[in-house]
Amino acid sequence: MHERIIILDFGSQYTQLIARRVREVGVYSEIHPCTISPAHVAEMDPRGLILSGGPCSVYDADAPQLDGAFLSMTREDGSPLPILGICYGLQAMARLLGGAVESAERREFGRAKLIVENSDELFDGVSSGSTVWMSHGDHLSKLPQGFNVIARTDNAPIAAVRSEEWPHYGVQFHPEVIHTDAGRLILQNFAHEICGCIGDWTPASFVDEKIQEIRTLVGREHVILGLSGGVDSSVAAVLLHESIGDQLTCIFVNNGLLRKGEWEQVQKTFRDHYQIRLKAIDKSDLFLERLNGVSDPEGKRKIIGNTFVEVFEDATNEITDELGRKPTFLAQGTLYPDVIESVSFKGPSATIKTHHNVGGLPDEMHLEVLEPFRELFKDEVREIGKILGVPVGIINRHPFPGPGLAIRILGPVSRSELEILREADAIFIEELQMTGLYDKVWQAFAVLLPVQSVGVMGDVRTYENVCALRAVTSVDGMTADWAQLPYDFLGRVANRIVNEIRGINRTVYDISSKPPATIEWE
Ligand code: XMP
Repeated sequence: MHERIIILDFGSQYTQLIARRVREVGVYSEIHPCTISPAHVAEMDPRGLILSGGPCSVYDADAPQLDGAFLSMTREDGSPLPILGICYGLQAMARLLGGAVESAERREFGRAKLIVENSDELFDGVSSGSTVWMSHGDHLSKLPQGFNVIARTDNAPIAAVRSEEWPHYGVQFHPEVIHTDAGRLILQNFAHEICGCIGDWTPASFVDEKIQEIRTLVGREHVILGLSGGVDSSVAAVLLHESIGDQLTCIFVNNGLLRKGEWEQVQKTFRDHYQIRLKAIDKSDLFLERLNGVSDPEGKRKIIGNTFVEVFEDATNEITDELGRKPTFLAQGTLYPDVIESVSFKGPSATIKTHHNVGGLPDEMHLEVLEPFRELFKDEVREIGKILGVPVGIINRHPFPGPGLAIRILGPVSRSELEILREADAIFIEELQMTGLYDKVWQAFAVLLPVQSVGVMGDVRTYENVCALRAVTSVDGMTADWAQLPYDFLGRVANRIVNEIRGINRTVYDISSKPPATIEWE
């Protein structure tokens, strides 16, 4: 079993970030709600514990509390369990130990200069004066019993503390956010120096172990996997194929809402290149027929989702292995954020949600679910993909919604509009790739608006559709900024779209951020 650091989630929007940062320094970390019992945590044999921040004030009536038993917990070898409290996590710990917390009206973040007062392992290599990201919310106004100040900032005399007796630490700032210069080093010091971890969590070790695990679990049985061509299902397909070869069959459904060339490209990559057993089913007619005349976005999503399940089930029933046996496993590219959301403490980290993940395949399929990436974040899946030699084009691919182009044509969807949108989207993406801008944005695409406007081409007046271009930067899709693409680039794309595509005579660029807008238009 890997060394692990457990994170107790008090509802901060940064909890997942803490886990990612700890993993980046080579230590597996897992998030659990702050209500988990100390006994349960002890069973997991953690090397250390991190208490996350949270939106509450420790004196709120319904504020989540820290169970005092954590503070006297020892590890399996009898040594005391190291604890790092971050912001609310520190305050929750301090409150139990006689400290006091001063409340603030409003919480906001800001830069501060960290002044290290007492040298300590936590700050090894951290230069005094380095920038930390403080939350100007509640803060510690009186030290808990047995604690010393180890760092301060100009405004906060108590910015970091440690216990004299136990390896218990607290920081008032957020080491997990990128703006804290030495944040990574501080978490590394906690994990390596204080918790004594050697750092045995690497993508390469994950691949080796997972392959063995999958082989043992699957035995001689057959596995199916819904392939979309996106990062998660593609890397899952390659990992499973590496593990069990022809005992894997991938199902790839053409719902008629794919991007230009996608139907052919996915088959070429997986069937021809990887020689993975691939069942590619073209059901575009069925999907488009059912979508006919439907303009409500949620209605479209429902039809597409239900039809996908139906098609997938039928396809599964047709699959047998060489011995004529039916599949017993259904592999899915579920990621760690999806898993935590179902168990997370109620707070911002619980409400942040990929509200519409596709692939909710019904339990009645009676297949055992295999989720090789259940413990992973998306950046880790990308790393795994690189190790497995998955083409960069797939690894760095922008996210694409399950309902595909249907939610990028506002109002009812028709074949002719799909054709137009596909061409416009392809031009935009091609130009982004040619200029190296593709990898700088989180997601970029074209949207076809049901708005016609007057134009002139040659000597003729035209009355055609408007195409909107959308490109955003984001970390996780939950919030996003519109991407500030260069004007000359946008000009070139707009020109090409209007000149090369019949049916569009005007192109606009969407400069809305999320919130208040969303990334997709529907
Ligand atoms: P929004 O538009 O809500 O999108 O800002 C956030 C991210 O989710 C994707 N998205 C979807 N993905 N099914 C999906 O699988 C959907 O119905 C869906 N709607 C939005 C969107 O592309 C963005 O990456």
